[in-house]
Order: sequence, then structure tokens, then C-alpha cells
Amino acid sequence: MSVLIRNGRVITSADDYFADIFIQGEKITHIGASLPHRADHVIDATNKLVIPGGIDPHTHLDMPFGGTTSADDFASGTRAAAFGGTTTLIDFAIQSKGRSTLEGLDTWHAKAEGKATIDYGFHMIVTDMPEERLGEMERLADSGVTSYKLFMAYPGVLYVDDGVLYRTFRQAGENHTMICMHAENGIVIDEIVKRAVAEGKTEPRWHALTRPTRMEAEGVFRSIAIAEVANVPLHIVHLSCHDALEQVKLARDRGLNVQAETCPQYLLLDHSYYERPGFEGAKWVMTPALREKWNQDKLWEGLRMGDLALVATDHCPFCFKGQKELGLDSFTKIPNGAPGLENRMSLIYSAGVAGGRLTLNQFVNLTSTAAARTFGLFPKKGTVAVGSDADLVVFDPDRRTVISAGNPDTHHMRVDYSAYEGVEVQGWPEVVLSRGRVVVDSGRQLLSGGGRFVRRARYGELLR
Ligand code: URP
Ligand code: ZN
Ligand code: ZN
Repeated sequence: MSVLIRNGRVITSADDYFADIFIQGEKITHIGASLPHRADHVIDATNKLVIPGGIDPHTHLDMPFGGTTSADDFASGTRAAAFGGTTTLIDFAIQSKGRSTLEGLDTWHAKAEGKATIDYGFHMIVTDMPEERLGEMERLADSGVTSYKLFMAYPGVLYVDDGVLYRTFRQAGENHTMICMHAENGIVIDEIVKRAVAEGKTEPRWHALTRPTRMEAEGVFRSIAIAEVANVPLHIVHLSCHDALEQVKLARDRGLNVQAETCPQYLLLDHSYYERPGFEGAKWVMTPALREKWNQDKLWEGLRMGDLALVATDHCPFCFKGQKELGLDSFTKIPNGAPGLENRMSLIYSAGVAGGRLTLNQFVNLTSTAAARTFGLFPKKGTVAVGSDADLVVFDPDRRTVISAGNPDTHHMRVDYSAYEGVEVQGWPEVVLSRGRVVVDSGRQLLSGGGRFVRRARYGELLR
């Protein structure tokens, strides 16, 4: 099967030019002006951008959490991702406490295999790491899982202490792999939560009011210090506020190998969502919580200046009915997380590029290339180049849409609300190709399934 994309404006993290792109099978084989090639399928990209498919390196599909399971599985989640212009995601496999990480990986392979429409990889969530298990980390890396997420939050669930952090960090560094950190002091936060509940403060807004930004900043500072001593590259996930960003900047100014991601919810939504009437604020109960609005300008500045390396979603959807409602009597029982996988590309293009905050090259970098480089997918993924996978999006930069759970153009996620309900966006992924297969065209899904597990390279190595 061959595909020719004609007359598009090709944008990578570095380039911006008009060209045709010829795809043979799964790969881009030619790029040039007025290519003479004949193809089985021709796509007219006049007046459109041609960009690398989005890479979302932070999703939680089919994840048991908060007494329930995230509402999207690998079938519905990857389908929604494709509609939104994302062609690769990295999800989180979980080690059950006291058991093998390799067993955890097998469980997540079984969840994804045969269901995914786009390609996917896994980070491994480490919940304990005794000396005798450290050897598993090399085996994980050999099987293409080259990053590990650890939690300072959620005591009694995913939390690990500083000893586990140091041991895992050191081994990850020795193996040329990297660490993803949920940086928030969960122990102190739990104390604040207990006091609030004892005082009868149980509405959703107390989820946010019991999580001071200082406790995120402290987690960022502490994980950076441990990573420096353990000599491992560190990626702070879902950074939400100025307070935490300052710690990242200080470390980077000292030359440390530290970077961070933020998410559309922290760039575009704010604390006022918790003040909505009744139980509605539960829709935005996530960790870290939404912050005061003034933080948003600081995060955009962090993206522009490079202290924030990329934009991921932390897509962790729970239906309002039946799932978020588990916490009707107390915010402590509301499953933490919100949907967003499908909307990331349009939201960031709209608020970023159309909003005058980002260049087109920065948009591509933040939504695709930086994740590919950070997580061992480049140059197979994350760029438009001869030899790269033909994961491409023909993006209409002008089309406007209103995001809504009721809008079939913007909502294919299996969750009964949108975190961005009523937000108008400019920019629309019109045609989406995954390894040369046209999976979405003008809002219609043409193919489902066919997504594959991608073995990622070790830190700093290329994947071909
Ligand atoms: O609230 C969130 N973020 N839920 C997903 C788990 C995590 O901490 O990433
Ligand atoms: Zn987290
Ligand atoms: Zn997460």
C-alpha cells in the first residue's frame, strides 16, 4: 500500500516547508516538491499542515485505581487518541507490591494486545524494589521498557519511601534508563487531609485545598536531589504550578539532567472549577490538583523557555456517574484523574499557536518530538523524515470546534463528561495516519486495531 500526501506545509520541530510526502508501506520513503510518484491513495493537503503524529507519554488506560478502573481501555482510548491526532502513547504498567515487575508488564501487555489502534509503549510503575529485584530492571530495559514511574504521593497505594527511590534511581541510571516522578509530599498531604475531614470539610474542593503547591515543590526538590546523587536522568510528570517549576529551573540552571512535563489541564483550567455547585467539582479531582489561574502564564513561559519539555495529558478518565460518585460523601473517595487524551493536540495548537504563545515548531516539539527524544522513540516516531514511521497528521489550522461530550467530532473517549466542556478550539486533525494506515479521515474512523507495542531505546539512544 502506498500513500501520497500532496501540497502540505510540513512542520517538524525544526523545519517548515511545502512538500509532497510519499509513503510505502509503514515508512516515509520520499519527501520533495511535486513528487512524480503514483500511489494507491492520494491525500490533498493544500492549505493544511502536515505534522508528526502526536505522542502522549502519560496515559492510564484500563487502570485499577481509587476503588474502580479507568473508563477507557486500550480499544476505546487509542481510538479516541487517533481521532485527536495522537498516534503513539506511553501508558503505565503497574508492579503489584511484593511481586515481579515483569509480571506487571505481562498484565499490561495482555490488556493492550490486539486492542490498540495506534502504537503504544509502557513505563513501569515501581511499587517496591528490594535489592534482589534490581536485576529485573535490566530485563525490562531489554524488553523496551526504559523508564520507571515512582510516586511520593498516594501513601498506602503507590507511594514509595526515599530508600526505594534512591535504590531504583541508582539502578535506572546504571542501566541507561530514566525516571518519571510523581513529585508531591503525600505523607504531609495525608495529615492535612485527615484534619480537613475531621473538621467536616468533605466537598470536592477540599481535594485541592488540602494539597498546597509547596508540597509539590518539596517533592520536586527532593526527587531532584536524590536523582543528582544517584546519577539518573529525571523527568517530573504532570507539573502543575509555578512553585514546582521554580525548583526545576534552579536544577537546570545548575546543569542537572532534569526536565518536566505539564498537561493541558494545568495550562487551561484552574481552581475555580472546584467551586462549581454541588458535586460537579469532582470532575476535576486529579492529583496534582488544578491551581490558581495565575500559575498558567508561568507554565506557558516554562514551555517557551524549555524548562517544561513537553505536554502530556495524564489521561485517567472516570465517569461522573457511578465512578466519581464513589466520593459523594467525601472527596477522599473520589477516584483521582480526568480525561483529555483526545483533545490535547487541538487544545495546545489553539491556545498555543493560534493564541500567540507558541511557534508552530514549538507546538510540534511539545506534542510529539520532545516525547520521542525523551523516551527513546526518535527518529522512528516524532518527526517527518525519510525512514521514519508514517505516523502523520494532516492538520487543518483554521477549523474551529467546540469541545463537548455531546459533540461527535471531539469526544470518542468512553467517559460521560468532558473536562473541557464548551471550550472553543481552533485547529483540527483532519487525516490521521498510523504507520501508513489512514485510521481517521474527516472525522470518520477507517480502521481499528493494528496498533503495536513499541520497544523503546535506552536513554539518549536512537530507535530505528
Ligand atoms: O489524578 C491523577 N493524576 N490520576 C492518575 C494517577 C497519577 O497520579 O498520575
Ligand atoms: Zn502521577
Ligand atoms: Zn498519571
